Amino acid sequence: MPTGAQLDIGVNVASASVTSRKRSAAAIRQLALLGGEPVGTVNQPTYPYFTKRALRRVTEILETGRVLGFSRDVPEVREAEEALSRHHGGRHVLATGSGHSALQMALAGLDVAAGDEVITTPYSWGASTSCILHQNAIPVFADVNSQTGLIDPKRIEARITRRTRAILPVHMYGHPADMTAIMRLAKRHGIAVVEDCSQAHGATWKGVGVGNFGDAAGFSCMGGKQLGTTEAGYFVTPDKDVYWRACLDCQHSARSMEEGFPDDLRPYVDSLIYTYRVTTIEAALLAEQLKKLPREIDARRRNVAMVRSLLKDSQFLAWPRHSTHGDASYYMWSMRFRSRAAGIHRDTFLKAVQAEGLGMTAYVTSLIPTWARLHWQTYKGPRTVWHDNLRRAQIDYRKQNYPQATDLMNHGLQMMFRFYKPAARVMQRVADIIYKVEANIDALRRYERQESNQSRRK
Ligand SMILES: Cc1ncc(COP(=O)(O)O)c(C=O)c1O
Repeated sequence: MPTGAQLDIGVNVASASVTSRKRSAAAIRQLALLGGEPVGTVNQPTYPYFTKRALRRVTEILETGRVLGFSRDVPEVREAEEALSRHHGGRHVLATGSGHSALQMALAGLDVAAGDEVITTPYSWGASTSCILHQNAIPVFADVNSQTGLIDPKRIEARITRRTRAILPVHMYGHPADMTAIMRLAKRHGIAVVEDCSQAHGATWKGVGVGNFGDAAGFSCMGGKQLGTTEAGYFVTPDKDVYWRACLDCQHSARSMEEGFPDDLRPYVDSLIYTYRVTTIEAALLAEQLKKLPREIDARRRNVAMVRSLLKDSQFLAWPRHSTHGDASYYMWSMRFRSRAAGIHRDTFLKAVQAEGLGMTAYVTSLIPTWARLHWQTYKGPRTVWHDNLRRAQIDYRKQNYPQATDLMNHGLQMMFRFYKPAARVMQRVADIIYKVEANIDALRRYERQESNQSRRK
């Protein structure tokens, strides 16, 4: 039986726009995928949004030509790093050119290097693994909890060896990993923790912001992130020595002229470095964007709460069961499709909602350990810097299984969530689309059967 909310679909869809009243009720009810009228595009706002003041500052920087952000002695870099440090309860902050470089330098600052093992998640964006590879270290993957998509502390423990130097959890989609269990584990085994907070600016675990738990943490501030600039990142650490060692590896020697640079590192100051600096433009944008981050995270949370409440009668979407200790900041809105209950594959559902105008995707379509560039045994492509290390470690990613991450990959649905302002009408449209597709599930089952018969005949 259709639920009350599903019976309301015609009304909701018809109210989506004035012109829709003219459409025939049948065309509106029929799925766009099957030739009916789409509900209408769910537009993401222009993103990132920069204030007038931020734009003015960028123009001023360009007019004066003071674009180089060599060190904290440059006012914009100092301002950004000090503001970020306050945001992170006084931790040391190094602004970098990207999230990847922030993570790699967090590892460098912790002295993670050739042959060291770093345990991380197979279900992520590749940079949470490539930062390990670029330090000549060995990524070791621990499966996730299939409900949350976050690395599972129990499975981390099973992967710890005497070569393990660090754990690198990823706060995926803006949901904080279980930092209580991860920090306890790391302490017990005497290993470091580097949080990948690239998707989780503003998220908290037990009321404490992510990035404030580990020995270091890296953030991406590329234009799509909650703290979005154009391309930038930063890392934080409670340990000044970690900060200085990272400076030595990645920034111009100007950092060695900052107050407090340790004398024992001075003989090693040179330009054999990665150039992972920010420009003054990025630094100014970091400082300006940070001012509005709490407000924007709050709006993201309210919008997710609203759309979830509108979808409380959804039959085929299930929300991940996250710990109540975590407060997410919603880089993406993530859910699972209950394909067995629906009787169709997740991708068929996806096609139908996309045709109605909703830009949902399956964000992770393959697990990192399955990628060809990690399979040194069979690899035929251009040379990589990490194959020799992987060969020396005799690690074989082809033999490993990650059933929870695989399950999530096959059933997860995600939506980029850039709704940083109240967006009640848009959330309503999202719900209208989902309910319309769910109300047409029989037609979708037939469609899927036809499609698979056709492809079998080919
Ligand atoms: C989980 C995660 N880690 C690291 C990164 C790398 O950030 P960047 O693209 O700024 O290098 C990203 C970027 O999307 C990410 O999503």
